[in-house]
Formats: sequence, C-alpha cells, structure tokens
Amino acid sequence: MATSIPLSQTILVAFLIVTSCIWMFPQVAVATSKHTSVTRHYKFNIRLKNVTRLCHTKSMVTVNGKFPGPRVVAREGDRIIVKVVNHAPNNISIHWHGIRQLQSGWADGPAYITQCPIQTGQSYVYNFTVVGQRGTLLWHAHFQWLRATVYGPLIILPRHNASYPFAKPYKEVTIMLGNLSFISSNLIESFCHAILLINMIKKIWQIIITTGEWFNADPEAIINQSLQTGNGPNVSEAYTFNGLPGPTYNCSAKDTYKLKVKPGKAYMLRLINTALNDELFFSIANHTLTVVEADATYVKPFETNILVIAPGQTTNVLLKTNPNPPNASFFMLARPYFTGMGTFDNSTVAAILEYETPSQDNSFRNRTLFKPSLPAINATNFVANFSSKFRSLANAQFPANVPQTVDKRFFFTVSLGANPCPKNQTCQGPNGTKFAAAVNNVSFALPSTALLQSYFFAKSKGVYTADFPQFPLHPFNYTGTPPNNTFVSNGTKALVIPFNTSVELVLQDTSILGAESHPLHLHGYNVYVVGQGFGNFDPKNDPAKFNLIDPVERNTVGVPSGGWVAIRFLADNPGVWFMHCHFDVHLSWGLRMAWIVLDGELPNQKLPPPPSDLPKC
Ligand code: C2O
Repeated sequence: MATSIPLSQTILVAFLIVTSCIWMFPQVAVATSKHTSVTRHYKFNIRLKNVTRLCHTKSMVTVNGKFPGPRVVAREGDRIIVKVVNHAPNNISIHWHGIRQLQSGWADGPAYITQCPIQTGQSYVYNFTVVGQRGTLLWHAHFQWLRATVYGPLIILPRHNASYPFAKPYKEVTIMLGNLSFISSNLIESFCHAILLINMIKKIWQIIITTGEWFNADPEAIINQSLQTGNGPNVSEAYTFNGLPGPTYNCSAKDTYKLKVKPGKAYMLRLINTALNDELFFSIANHTLTVVEADATYVKPFETNILVIAPGQTTNVLLKTNPNPPNASFFMLARPYFTGMGTFDNSTVAAILEYETPSQDNSFRNRTLFKPSLPAINATNFVANFSSKFRSLANAQFPANVPQTVDKRFFFTVSLGANPCPKNQTCQGPNGTKFAAAVNNVSFALPSTALLQSYFFAKSKGVYTADFPQFPLHPFNYTGTPPNNTFVSNGTKALVIPFNTSVELVLQDTSILGAESHPLHLHGYNVYVVGQGFGNFDPKNDPAKFNLIDPVERNTVGVPSGGWVAIRFLADNPGVWFMHCHFDVHLSWGLRMAWIVLDGELPNQKLPPPPSDLPKC
C-alpha cells in the first residue's frame, strides 16, 4: 500500500538529514550567501581513549577518540564553527593557533587569558572567520600540557577562484571513491557521503606531516611533578610522525608512517611541529624540498635539503619525486635542535618515503633504504642561516604590510631563572631552587579568572595589573657572564597599547641559566621579522640593517640562542593577546605575558561582547 508523505514532512526530513550531516561529518559546508564564503561546522567531543605506542597502552585525552586529532579544513574567507563538548575528567580549552581572530578574541582559546577552561560536562562554541590567511596552521589544547595529545591540522585552502602562487601540486581525486556507498542502509550516512565526496573531489591532495612527542607517562603528571619539585620535567620517550614513532624505537616498527608517492609528480607537504618542547631538524634522503609557505603566509620559494621547525610553526614544502621510480626507499628523519643546559629527548624519529611500483615487478623487492644526514644537535649557525632565508612574497597580490614607522618601541628579555624554594621543602632545581622563566624578569602567574573578561567588564582589580615593564628594569650584559642573582619576580602584568599602535619589539635571549632558543608565539597577530643577530641587540647600529622590504610574516618567531630578534606589527586587533614561549616547559615556568590592545573609535574597531556560552571559572 502506498502512502503519500505530505510535502511539509518531506521538507522537514530533508532538513533533519542535512543538519545531522553537519554535525556528523566535519567536511560538510553549507553556503550561507551567494558569495563563495561558507560556514563550516565541526564537533569536537573531548574524551579519553586508550592508545598504544611502544608496547605501552595509556588512556589519553583526545578529540573524537583520534590521535592525532581530526583535521579542520576551510577556505580563506570561510567561517568556522566548532562545538567543543568536554566528556573528559580534565578541564580543557582549544586554541586555533595562528588564526588572526579579528574581533573574535573570545574564540582564541588560551585558558585564563581569553576564557575560563571548559569544565567536564560543559561545552563551548568557537566561532571565527578566516581573514587574509591561507596555508597550514594547527589547533591544539591550551590548558596545562594537554596539547601533547590534543592537536590537529588546520588547513586553509585558497578561495575557490584563487590559485597558489606556485605551480599546482599533483592532484589526487580517487581516494574517497571507495567510501561512496549508496547501498548503505543508513540513509543519512549515504547522503552525507555524497556531499562529502563532492567536497573532497574539489580538494587538492593534501599530505600532512605533524611531528609530535610521545610520553609513556601522563604529561599532566610530568609537569605537575616538575612544578612541585622545581626540577626540569621528564623528557619524552619518542618523537612521532603523524602520531607514529616508527622503526627507530623499540616495539614500534609496525607504527611507521609511510608516504607513498608516484614518480615524476610534485607533492605539497604540510609540515606542523606539534612537539611540546623541541625544535626539530627534518630531512628526506636524496630529495630536495622547496619551501613555499610559513605560518599560513606565502614566502619567496627557496630550496633546501634540511628544515628546522619550532613547536607552533608550520610550513608548506613542495616535494618533486624522481621521474623514474628508483629501486630504493628513503627515510624521512627528524631530531631535535638543542643548546640549553637541561636534559632533552635526543632520539631520532623516522618515517619512510616509498615509490609506488608495478606490483608484479620483482626487481623492486630488495630496495635500498637511504638515510638523510642531519646537522649537529647544537647547530645554531645552521638554524640562524635557515631562518634568514624566509622572505615575504611582497608583491602586488600579497604585499608585505610591514610598518615603516614606529609608534612604540619595546625591549623584552626572555630568560630562564629561578624562584626560591618554599620553606620546609627541598627543591631539585638549580642550587636547590625552583626553575622559573620570565619576560623582562616577570614570571607570569596565571590568574584564576580570564583576563579578557576582567578587562572587558572593567574588573581588573585582583586579577591583573597594567604595569608590564616596557624595558628591563635592571639592564645587564644579557649574553655575557650570567649574573649571580637568578631570581625572577612573579606577577600577572599586562602591557596596554592603543588601537592601531605600530609596534617594534626586540626579543633578547639571555644567558641566565644558559642561552637557549625560544620560539615566541603571539596570539591574534602575525608579526614581521625585520632583523635578528647574535649577542646583545645594538640599538645604535642594528636598526639600520632591518629589512623593511620583504620580511617574513609569522606567528611564532625563534629568538636565537644567545641572540635577539626584532619584530614589527600593527596593533589593529582589539583584545587580550597572549605571548609566550611555545616550549610548554618554559610556558609553564612563566615565560608568558599578555598584551591588551584597546578598542578603536569606530564601531568596527571594537571587541564585541562575549558569547552567552563563554565558560565560567
Ligand atoms: Cu600554539 Cu598560545 O599557543
């Protein structure tokens, strides 16, 4: 017997199917206007998951049970809406690392800076638009050390009608075809797969390589113990490529990342360093890479065999495969760059680049495996040389809007130091003290309520003070013989600047407790790297050498070990913006501070009020 379904009911069913697709499948995009920009909905369920590596199973905090976490993909101009629901016992917040968050500071994510953490059983919707950025970024947890397991790629494709400023990499459009299953009994699923497929076919083939760190112990326990005893934290057991430690570690050969390629093609690799505490050298045996992008801005292409990439940094490189399939495979290796005095994980992680060969061809059975060679662990000159190769495109389409004049100059030291050991306790830090770290000798204490809220509602009393020092209060020979007094001061201090201030900031490493490089990350902005050098910054002679033509634009800038770096930016984004070392150990020790950029006069120069679901502390 045929029953007819009323039209209104059909429309309702269709609507329900479409809305469930949006939540079930992150790639589904819904056009919100006649323009090409769309809104992309994602759902992040924070939950515990058992994961095994190195023959060791542990329960870890994940997004949707995935390690590494799911990719977030959008085009330039799109709106991204992520509903984060916390089912884990830990509090958490998520940061969209490198996203400018223009007038959407409430969605930035660092816990106790722009929001209180999302508590167990609570949720928060992050809502922001991608403006003027294209390339690779990452998202990660921004509370304690949870980003050890809670991270994933954030890919920004060019607008629909825009192309890359380099030859298009090889396209792959077949990989999702196997998923097209219209015979599935689940109607919603089939429908969603169809949409998903259309979406994927349009997409350029993406190869994402995240490097990370694996700890057998719970990373939260590691940092808590370190903060308690004052000693350096235990180091990781292994590094990983896309969450896999690979064949250089015990009990790990089966967990090896393999990149299968066809001969004679150009692939684009999106490299992301998600390690907690280590800058890494990276190289692929017998292959040259062309760097085309850094921190989601295009750069003048340059060739290199070896890259160095700091935590929080991202870079796109082109890999041209050999025209003829070689009878060999090639190791991709990564291992740390380190100049400090503490301990670090000095292991090497390996993945394999493999050429596809005709399956019947026996001559490819016993392939040789080539290994790349990497610089020495402390190859500071290599690192300085490499970072100086990055230049903005600085052309009509992608101009370098580096401020040519400066309203405000700031000089910050970044350093390790110590706090005295509390009475009735023995401490295991340097000379019985506790390790600390500071900017202009202020070790930043996290408040117990979020800075952005207390600033916005003018309730700063007891939360923060607006007296962050613009220069070191007690200048010394920063990179000379270290001073006897290594103690830091502690406080929650912010630096307040008017809207549209053109800022120049020199970041100076110090030799207190050992010179070390520090990848400094500024939230809410990209900065232009106008100069760098070794030793102490010379305010008389160094500015004349600044590059104001085509400096690279980055969100995470390496302060050279025993040297300085100068950056410029226009403070055109009102809000509270965290700046910190992207080594989580230094971050936890207090190498962090906050900028407050005031509202401008015009309505579109003001930070809007917070969303109603902003988490409470
Ligand atoms: Cu990627 Cu405040 O961090």
